[in-house]
Amino acid sequence: MESQNRSSFTGKLGFVLAAAGSAVGLGNIWRFPYLAAKYGGGMFLLTYIILAVTFGFSLMVAEVAIGRKTGKSPIDAFQALDRRFTWVGWLAAIIPTIILPYYSAIGGWVIKYMVGFITGQASTMANDSFFGDYIGMTVEPIVWFLVFIGITAVVVMCGVEKGVEKVSKFMMPILVVLILIIALYTIFAMDGAVDGVIYYIKPDFSHFSIMTVVAAMGQLFYSMSLAMGIMITFGSYMKKEISIEGSTHQIEIFDTGVAFLAGLMIIPAVFAFSGGDESALGKGPGLMFITLPKIFDAMPGGDIIGAAFFIMVLFAALTSAISLMETIVSIFQDKLNMKRIPACLTVLGISLVLGIATCLGYSAWSSFTIIGMQLLDFFDFISNNILMPITALATAIFVGYVLKPKAIIEEAECEGNRLKGKKLFTVMIKYIAPIFIVLILISSILDFFGIVKI
Ligand code: PFF
Repeated sequence: MESQNRSSFTGKLGFVLAAAGSAVGLGNIWRFPYLAAKYGGGMFLLTYIILAVTFGFSLMVAEVAIGRKTGKSPIDAFQALDRRFTWVGWLAAIIPTIILPYYSAIGGWVIKYMVGFITGQASTMANDSFFGDYIGMTVEPIVWFLVFIGITAVVVMCGVEKGVEKVSKFMMPILVVLILIIALYTIFAMDGAVDGVIYYIKPDFSHFSIMTVVAAMGQLFYSMSLAMGIMITFGSYMKKEISIEGSTHQIEIFDTGVAFLAGLMIIPAVFAFSGGDESALGKGPGLMFITLPKIFDAMPGGDIIGAAFFIMVLFAALTSAISLMETIVSIFQDKLNMKRIPACLTVLGISLVLGIATCLGYSAWSSFTIIGMQLLDFFDFISNNILMPITALATAIFVGYVLKPKAIIEEAECEGNRLKGKKLFTVMIKYIAPIFIVLILISSILDFFGIVKI
């Protein structure tokens, strides 16, 4: 059924690398560590890993198979399989539109720190108040946000993603090595860091709450680029002879591995610098930007390592932002019959409005909060904890009861491939995932409106 004019990935590696480029980004390096720090350390890590190998695995297999079976992008794919579910494709399309602007605001922070390290200001940035003062400025964060979204837009407009992805293919391994070096340095050279390693690795059941699961699940969607149509799009480019199960495992392991290491780099350092004060773990979105400069400042050659680190993070963030923008642009092209450049400009326009608002949310508009949340937290929460679970729920119900798991299994097993996790897949998609997501959604909403503090 694959449509004729659809390009294909050349081989398994093509699919895995493109999907990994989208998956590995700020979610792993910035978002995972602060959530793990905030929501129970080892308990969060354990919850996340269990969810990744059961739930994440099943949902990714389902999405990739839907894409490959139909050869279409998300909205058309749902429409082709069952008209009543076309709205799921639309919902999936709204999510990257909400994520891209604030993702780019954080991308702007990364550029600021990169420039700071290149120009030798490590010690200034290591100052406790630096990050807060910086995001509290009205103009500069907006300028760096514009640079980040501008680069993303130019790449998408000129269609030179491949070039950026090629560069990031060698940047990624260097990034992983740097993260390892930084983690090892912190653990071995800094007093008190070992307590942080224990907090991060050892599950402590007293740290468990429903919010641990809510946060881990939201993070899973975000980090593996699930429940927003991306994997459906990637699946539509995948050749039939490639194993969906094998590729899914590789992406899962790589994505979770990078997130795990990023946590190992940041959480022990928080312990070392705060003298074991656990309240320092709750710093939220700023955690990476507050902790890392201190490590670099304390490290021999920290200026250079810091600069190299932020350059790599910038590339990881750009490949993810490009895949976010590309998804929205292709939907505008297909569904609103727009040409590529006008579609890019429209997406850019929306992102500018929401992104500038996000930046101002920390400065001129800091008194403006939505249900007690700063704009960035609000966009993050609404996309990850509300919209993505709804999309995932609809996908699970659709696959479990309308399309039937058999159709997905057949797609995953075509051309001699096997799906060893068939049983797991069927039970997850039909029963566990829907019940679980409904519970998560209810807790999220109750928490959101402050009805119950969980
Ligand atoms: N998965 C990316 C990350 O972890 O940074 C974020 C992301 C990229 C989400 C692309 C969605 C997406 F389409």
